Amino acid sequence: MSSLKLTDGAVTDGVLVLGLSFNPNKGSALSIESGSATVDAKTLLAQLKELGATGKSDEVIKIPGTRTKLILFTGLGATSKEYAHETLRRAAGAAARALAGSSEATFALPAPDLASVAAIAEGAALGAYAFDEFRGSTKSDRKLPLATIAIHSKFSKKVEAKHALKRAQVIAQYTHLVRDLINTPPSHLTPDSFTKKISAAVKSLGGTSSSLKVSVLNEKQLKSGGFGGIIGVGQGSANPPRLLHIKYSPKKSLRTFAFVGKGITFDTGGLALKPAAGMEAMKSDMSGAAAVCGAILAIASLKLPVTIEAWAPLAENMVSDNATRPSDVITIYGGKTVEVLNPDAEGRLVLADAIVKAQETKSLDGLIDVATLTGAQVVALGTRTSAVMTNNEDFSARFIAAARESGEAFWPMPLPQELRASLDSPVADLANIGERMGGMLVAGLFLKDFIKPEVPWLHLDIAGPAYNESAPHGYTPVGGTGVALRTLLRLVENSIIR
Ligand code: BES
Ligand code: MN
Ligand code: ZN
Repeated sequence: MSSLKLTDGAVTDGVLVLGLSFNPNKGSALSIESGSATVDAKTLLAQLKELGATGKSDEVIKIPGTRTKLILFTGLGATSKEYAHETLRRAAGAAARALAGSSEATFALPAPDLASVAAIAEGAALGAYAFDEFRGSTKSDRKLPLATIAIHSKFSKKVEAKHALKRAQVIAQYTHLVRDLINTPPSHLTPDSFTKKISAAVKSLGGTSSSLKVSVLNEKQLKSGGFGGIIGVGQGSANPPRLLHIKYSPKKSLRTFAFVGKGITFDTGGLALKPAAGMEAMKSDMSGAAAVCGAILAIASLKLPVTIEAWAPLAENMVSDNATRPSDVITIYGGKTVEVLNPDAEGRLVLADAIVKAQETKSLDGLIDVATLTGAQVVALGTRTSAVMTNNEDFSARFIAAARESGEAFWPMPLPQELRASLDSPVADLANIGERMGGMLVAGLFLKDFIKPEVPWLHLDIAGPAYNESAPHGYTPVGGTGVALRTLLRLVENSIIR
């Protein structure tokens, strides 16, 4: 984890990070954007021109410095009087990624307001990430993430700027935890070890002295407790399922939210076995569980005056003589029966148990489930935009507004009632699959069946955005991304000030 600090003086050491933009109305003329730092723009621009710089986003250009060891230009895209916070976040992230192996860099990017300072700090800290835990003989060849991030700002003496840096630090710390969990191979991340890793993170944050309490139901307790969804999905695996519960209950609490995250530590598809090509990405099928755990820890770390209950139903969806068969009927916690027509539609089964359990908490201000639920999500919205489905348009609008602020792409999707009939089963209360077309919405409608109408509910399908299988970009590495954590945090923050 890199350390963050503020500065406003002359930059005389390490690396200087500057912004570079182009003016589309002036023949793509380049501009150096150095924020509160002064630089010899004329000389640098002449050099950048010779280098063929464009200033486009995700472009990174390094040149030797005169006062510093190195100057790094990070692309901001089209020249603007006020850069979007997400533009700054991404530019800072791309720079930080390119500075792996460096000890210190000073980010002098355009930051006219505190929110811009926060975005730069966040982007840089999120970009400074590596996952090398499972490298053996090649581990020593790997570069460490950028160690110290200094943000050059005219606000450096302000207490608000210090708070913004603290928040960025917390976001990065727990986003990195979420990414680590996602990237950890299923040989080393089972339902049981997931609960242990989270318990350790809770403990190092102070445990009960931080108003946090963890409890875990094991397979025996799940069976006797009537959690037929988690048991049904997990029974084919030698690594038995768990239900992880984290409660954050500070003395002062203005709101109560429940978070529920899908925690399939590996999804083979069960007896509806997935094709081998690409199956390795299914180690990321616990991204929702990781995100809700990361979010509650970030919220607790920032000591926000809200009560949060996070639930992570954890199971491994495997093939065995004990695996759930197509046509098996299971009983979800609370009594509804489900005919399992397709054991690969397992996420909704474990979520149903946890969603019903989560609603035993009285007067929830909202329940949000987060899940890598359907391939249809990726077909509909691509790999970088997540979906939001709801029974409460106002709650959804507030979430989408929070997403715009956090820089995460979330888009509203409908839950058309006419698709619900496709989930009717000839033998049970409902089936776990329905109409193939609109599969993301059908999955949302399945979950909606388990939501009390009076509970404001959001279903976030993050199947594509949770796991980056292509090239790194901005502050996003290859592998686990940590998506949803920042918007959950922002939503909670907004709920206490608005
Ligand atoms: N974990 C998958 C969904 C998924 C697909 C996540 C691609 C990330 C990337 C989920 O459990 C699944 O297998 N869903 C099925 C549902 C179908 C059987 C109704 C799917 O989307 O194909
Ligand atoms: Mn599946
Ligand atoms: Zn799955």
